[in-house]
Amino acid sequence: MGHKRKKISVIGAGFVGSTCAHWAASKALGDVVLLDVNDGVAKGKALDLYEASPVENFDSRVIGTNDYKDTADSDVVIITAGIPRKPGMSRDDLLATNAKIMKDVCNGLKQHAPNAVVIVVSNPLDAMAYVAKQVLGFPRERVIGMAGVLDTARFKAFISEATNVSVKDINAFVLGGHGDTMVPMPRHCSVGGVPLTEMLDQDTIDKIVTRTRNGGAEIVGLLKTGSAFYAPAASAVQMAEAILQDQQRILPCAAFLQGEYGVKDLFLGVLCRLGGNGMEKVIEVKLNDVERKGLDNSVAAVQELVGALKKIEF
Ligand code: NAI
Ligand code: 2OP
Repeated sequence: MGHKRKKISVIGAGFVGSTCAHWAASKALGDVVLLDVNDGVAKGKALDLYEASPVENFDSRVIGTNDYKDTADSDVVIITAGIPRKPGMSRDDLLATNAKIMKDVCNGLKQHAPNAVVIVVSNPLDAMAYVAKQVLGFPRERVIGMAGVLDTARFKAFISEATNVSVKDINAFVLGGHGDTMVPMPRHCSVGGVPLTEMLDQDTIDKIVTRTRNGGAEIVGLLKTGSAFYAPAASAVQMAEAILQDQQRILPCAAFLQGEYGVKDLFLGVLCRLGGNGMEKVIEVKLNDVERKGLDNSVAAVQELVGALKKIEF
């Protein structure tokens, strides 16, 4: 007899993937499959996490595998497979390597988990989401990129620190591509309902915006051998939760735009409503001239990335 629990597959059992599995299981979002080309690592981490269940009291089965058959009937798949940029490697080298990995992963998923909602995490995010969409051929509702929730989490954390107000009372979002050109939106940010611009001076806001844009690099600079994983994994799992529980949450995600903001056939970070069907709606925000310029700049950067991708054989 089949079980009725939700199922989440996480592809890539590295830092981000294993932390996604950890959070998904500890929130008991459903059963978790951890898949990696490195079978032993996937199985070892999955078993170890499963053995924590009697201590943490979660009823999720967690299994590790290198076989896509085990992803069958997944409700949500989070893709974290990929390599980080290594010394001497150009951005195009990274693009080519991760595009090839993304293609292999999506071919496996297309065959075995054709009804899943897929959340892409691997970098460069906006290009990898594009590869995933092309290879999977799923409707845009079911291929979404994770970046905005993370960039927004950093933005909110820094605002909380500067205002000395609980993170629970900070409302904010970041638009655009996942890179230096992202567009934090201080004009739309509030602290306990009060506009941020009334709580902090412009200089402090500018510093927070810059720190948010450099958030990924700040962690890499400290870790030296890898990149962030706690906040990225928490962010991907928040998206998964919104979908698995049909929460209809508004979260910033990379969505395949079809004319919104005047952009077509490109993934870009925008506000989305996430529910049981995946990315159910793109919410368009009215922009002022400065915000529009910032977003145009970000669109140009993502266009350049996808242009480079299209020149690569993978
Ligand atoms: P990691 O190196 O710890 O893990 C990557 C895993 O992918 C490894 O276990 C590796 O064996 C696996 N892998 C490689 N090729 C595979 C394949 N063909 N099939 C299945 N698994 C495969 O890296 P980490 O720190 O977990 O980061 C993963 C990715 O996520 C990177 O591309 C990173 O840049 C990206 N990232 C994106 C963020 C975002 O905001 N979108 C935030 C943080 C990380
Ligand atoms: C980050 O923003 C590496 O994209 C990753 O931390």
